[in-house]
Amino acid sequence: LKLVVLISGRGSNLKAILEAIDAGELPAVVSAVISNRVDAPGLACASERAIDTLVLDAADYPDREAYDHALQGMIDLFKPGLVVLAGFMRILSPAFVHHYSGRLINIHPSLLPELRGLDTHRRALEAGHTEHGASVHFVTEELDGGPVIAQVRLPVLPDDNADTLEQRVLEQEHRLYVTVIQWIAEGRVSLEDDGLHFDGEVL
Ligand code: GRF
Repeated sequence: LKLVVLISGRGSNLKAILEAIDAGELPAVVSAVISNRVDAPGLACASERAIDTLVLDAADYPDREAYDHALQGMIDLFKPGLVVLAGFMRILSPAFVHHYSGRLINIHPSLLPELRGLDTHRRALEAGHTEHGASVHFVTEELDGGPVIAQVRLPVLPDDNADTLEQRVLEQEHRLYVTVIQWIAEGRVSLEDDGLHFDGEVL
């Protein structure tokens, strides 16, 4: 399976994907990593492996549609089977999302549909949640609202703060994202007109 991975920052999920590929655990190749920020630390783990890295700065485009159109053109040069959002901190326009329907996934640090949006760990604590986690979903027009493929769930501990909680969730994200990409590579999960399919069953 050919992947293009989009990042904005740290890139720890990207790194987990690359390490799983290096270890022969994931039947995929990362064809390119694209960032909207030139200073994204995560770009290093791609360039270390001689993977193409590209930067597309929103300041160079008049509006979201123009940016997303350029981004789409760049992604499609690599003809990926799957576009992986890994901490890509931009909202994507409907035209972009439709173009990649069923081929665009995101990881979000909450138990969706709980806590869409930013700052999920602090909000989980403030809301007194006893469980928290992360979700991988197909991306649709609705922000953090597409069909959930899989989740990891973990208890919120009495002395957790936003940082400790984030750290524990992040470790699980890395395993979760690799697992879901593996399922997609094996053709076990897909998004069809009638919804999410898993091992031949419509969920
Ligand atoms: C992760 O928490 C992910 O769930 C969210 O953005 C963060 C990206 O972290 N979408 P990293 O750049 O992969 O380390």
